[in-house]
Amino acid sequence: MHVTALLALWAAGSSAAGIQPLASRETEERHDWAFSPPHYPSPWMNPTAVGWEVAYAKAKAFVSQLTLMEKVNLTTGVGTAQYLALDFAAYADGPLGIRFGDYSSAFPSGQTVAATFDRQLLYQRGRAMGAEAKGKGVSVLLGPVAGPIGRMPTGGRNWEGFSPDPYLTGVGMAETIKGIQDEGVIACAKHFIANEQEHFRQVGEANGYGYNITETLSSNIDDKTMHELYLWPFVDATMNGLLKGELGFQGFVLSDWQAQHGGVSTALAGLDMSMPGDTRFNTGFSFWGTNLTVAVLNGTVPQYRVDDMAMRIMAAYFKVGMTLDQPPINMNSWTKDTFGYRHFYAQEGYERVNWHIDVQDDHGDLIREIGAKATVLLKNEGALPLKKPRFLAVIGEDAAPNPLGPNGCPDRGCNEGTLAQSWGSGTADFPYLVSPYEALALQARQDHTRFEAVLDNYATSQIESLVSQEDVTAVVFVNANSGEGYISVDGNEGDRNNLTLWGSGDELIKNVSSLCSNTIVVIHSVGPTLVTDWYDSPNVTAILWAGVPGQESGNSITDVLYGRVNPAGRTPFSWAAKREDYGADVMYEPNNDIPQQDFTEGVHIDYRYIDSNNITPIFEYGFGLSYTTFSYSDIRVEKIAAPAYEPTTGQTNPAPTFGNFSTDLSDYQFPDSLIRRIPGYIYPYLNVTDAEAATADPYYGLAPEEWLPPHAAEDAPQPLHPAGPDASQQPGGNAGLFDDLYTVTARITNTGNVVGDEVPQLYVSLGGPEDPPRVLRGFDRLNVAPGQTVVFAATLTRRDLSNWDTAYQDWVVTEHPKTVYVGPSSRKLPLSATLA
Ligand SMILES: *[C@@H]1O[C@H](CO)[C@@H](O)[C@H](O)[C@H]1NC(C)=O
Ligand SMILES: *[C@@H]1O[C@H](CO)[C@@H](O)[C@H](O)[C@H]1NC(C)=O
Ligand SMILES: *[C@@H]1O[C@H](CO)[C@@H](O)[C@H](O)[C@H]1NC(C)=O
Ligand SMILES: *[C@@H]1O[C@H](CO)[C@@H](O)[C@H](O)[C@H]1NC(C)=O
Ligand SMILES: *[C@@H]1O[C@H](CO)[C@@H](O)[C@H](O)[C@H]1NC(C)=O
Ligand SMILES: *[C@@H]1O[C@H](CO)[C@@H](O)[C@H](O)[C@H]1NC(C)=O
Ligand SMILES: *[C@@H]1O[C@H](CO)[C@@H](O)[C@H](O)[C@H]1NC(C)=O
Ligand SMILES: *[C@@H]1O[C@H](CO)[C@@H](O)[C@H](O)[C@H]1NC(C)=O
Ligand SMILES: *[C@@H]1O[C@H](CO)[C@@H](O)[C@H](O)[C@H]1NC(C)=O
Repeated sequence: MHVTALLALWAAGSSAAGIQPLASRETEERHDWAFSPPHYPSPWMNPTAVGWEVAYAKAKAFVSQLTLMEKVNLTTGVGTAQYLALDFAAYADGPLGIRFGDYSSAFPSGQTVAATFDRQLLYQRGRAMGAEAKGKGVSVLLGPVAGPIGRMPTGGRNWEGFSPDPYLTGVGMAETIKGIQDEGVIACAKHFIANEQEHFRQVGEANGYGYNITETLSSNIDDKTMHELYLWPFVDATMNGLLKGELGFQGFVLSDWQAQHGGVSTALAGLDMSMPGDTRFNTGFSFWGTNLTVAVLNGTVPQYRVDDMAMRIMAAYFKVGMTLDQPPINMNSWTKDTFGYRHFYAQEGYERVNWHIDVQDDHGDLIREIGAKATVLLKNEGALPLKKPRFLAVIGEDAAPNPLGPNGCPDRGCNEGTLAQSWGSGTADFPYLVSPYEALALQARQDHTRFEAVLDNYATSQIESLVSQEDVTAVVFVNANSGEGYISVDGNEGDRNNLTLWGSGDELIKNVSSLCSNTIVVIHSVGPTLVTDWYDSPNVTAILWAGVPGQESGNSITDVLYGRVNPAGRTPFSWAAKREDYGADVMYEPNNDIPQQDFTEGVHIDYRYIDSNNITPIFEYGFGLSYTTFSYSDIRVEKIAAPAYEPTTGQTNPAPTFGNFSTDLSDYQFPDSLIRRIPGYIYPYLNVTDAEAATADPYYGLAPEEWLPPHAAEDAPQPLHPAGPDASQQPGGNAGLFDDLYTVTARITNTGNVVGDEVPQLYVSLGGPEDPPRVLRGFDRLNVAPGQTVVFAATLTRRDLSNWDTAYQDWVVTEHPKTVYVGPSSRKLPLSATLA
């Protein structure tokens, strides 16, 4: 399960950073900058928002006819183990395929597909995942991921997202969401927001590894950093999505599993759906359900807020093309058996629960293509591509199948055999897994290559006698893994403990390369590792990073090693010489009863930190080689006439309501004559006609003015946010932010002998004293034949050239001089021009 404490904190009242009471005076002062003002009332939907009109018209027709309890039913999951949120809508993890699915695919991780720098592949992967979810009857797929973005390289779940660069992550979010939703499945952009490490994300888990904290970690972020870094990709998510006000988000916000910590407070703070519905797993009680029904009846939560929840949920549902007669889910997460309990916790409703529908289609081909096109060639001293080598020695456990089977470790919670998927709730069961050993052995037999493999990192004498023979090409497979904090692997509580390779991988490489002058290294990993000790050895003739590529792993890497795919993947993070070069790091020891994580580095993470501090990385952000070479020339900048930026003014309509409700509590009693109660199931009904007794809420009856924030239940028209959309604009922000201001073009020539893809990147220097030297603001992946010249073109919007102004609370293009750079990586930028 995945839980975002931050969502709960956000829902509990802070509009941006998660703010918690502070334990000491000392920290209080340091946190002045971390507070963002609470935002009440929760912005209600705009039924005429551009692009949402039809969906909201359908939602209105539906929601207006519902009773209060039917609305509450829409907003509250039915409990942990029932699987369905609503009778007609099922939810499934996750960001790289269907968790616990059978006959479904295990796609490359988000971070891996990001390395393709290929919008089309990002889209196609989303679309294929959407098609598989649809085929299983899933209505909401819980992905993609922009939080964590990757503040710290050891963060356990970075691989689920795309890249520590917000621009690339934004593109990844937008393309994936488009793909999923084009198949008629709702995508869930997560985790909102600043969920950057696994340590201290859950109180119980922290107790498990020896720390007594009273609340989960608080991420303290200043307003500028929030906008320019962490919120940025969620803006792109909205373009298909601080959220409802400023971005004009029209979808719904759901709580992560066990992340909701209050009832009335979360409703008023903007939560729209309580998942999985119970207070804690399988308690049978809910912060909403009965409590939400009563909160409306006793006047604490206004009707409009529940109507807004129901409208947002149903509008999203209709927006992706779903109808009220969707086929039900045909799989069950809790068992692979054909027959089982519909209500797993209660062990009730024994029936057919799995139809074992094969939804894979030809997605294996796409997975193989992405795996190969994502592979980053970090070094190549002429060793690659392989051409029928005489003698190939494959070394390392990371080339091998997992002896326990590809799904032998629940939620992939181990590090056995080749790393093709990391661990946690963001995983999918493999339908099969092509190991590198298997694919390379097949290739060798076809080529009449002598082929031997030693798949045990510690079989030192066998390895040494093999790789010291004449004519040998050694390919050493190594890895580094991480995952979600509820599983600990080799003492790594989700987050990695270090940046070195697992299984003595660095020593293995050093041992092999001390004996073999043609040592090729393949790294499967969830982020950077420290290659400092061996990368420049003359005997290490090639280095490839292959990410966590999914089920076709072996085929993908073989395609690259043998040149069937000319590599063009670009590293979506930096490879620094030492851990400190990244700046921010995971907090492994709590600094407080409620751990306080200060994001003091601001926007300076990964390459932005490295560049700002004049550190030389080993392989810079965006770097990757090819089997051919390219030259860059002729940068041109064209200014586009755009209207001046107009901050949005005016007001919303008053909060609308849809339908009415009875205030007679006897209309809300549990219909025992009609429904048999299922233990653990969450219902909207009351047991008794006494409201307080029905909720059993120990704090029942506190007057709202004693504890609720001012304006929390106000329904009068509210001012529109200057940076937000007005009634005629699309969600995502003020339309002026998306005006095109410049077109930048450059010519790229393939100066080598083979056809290849090139990934030109456009960086902008925003010029201010607090700005990183350069930030990514454009890229493309272009296929170029030998001798051919192509034109790279990128458009810069006002948003791309703006900074967040904390005083104005709006985006501004500052007076600082701005420069654009174009080149093949963040540090190889042969072309530049200033912006007029
Ligand atoms: C609420 O949903 C449950 C099943 O999830 C159903 O049994 C019940 O009838 C619904 N109640 C109302 C009022 O819609
Ligand atoms: C944890 O800390 C709380 C509050 O300081 C205290 O009440 C509790 O006894 C502690 N629990 C353990 C297991 O130390
Ligand atoms: C109502 O919410 C409170 C916590 O606020 C919880 O203790 C109680 O069990 C809930 N009631 C029901 C019926 O779920
Ligand atoms: C880093 O962590 C991995 C995985 O737990 C472990 O195998 C390795 O020995 C650690 N490296 C160092 C230098 O401690
Ligand atoms: C590397 O070689 C040394 C010396 O032979 C040996 O002790 C060590 O176990 C080897 N380590 C690996 C991982 O191969
Ligand atoms: C490279 O390999 C050769 C064996 O082919 C060995 O003699 C030499 O010491 C190695 N060089 C390094 C720097 O490891
Ligand atoms: C709700 O509205 C309907 C249609 O206008 C009306 O028939 C019904 O009596 C109303 N119910 C209540 C409880 O006000
Ligand atoms: C309501 O009644 C059911 C059935 O007796 C019981 O399981 C549940 O705990 C009751 N809820 C409350 C809040 O008392
Ligand atoms: C109204 O109901 C909610 C939900 O049970 C409860 O938390 C709150 O204390 C109640 N407020 C009043 C004023 O009765």
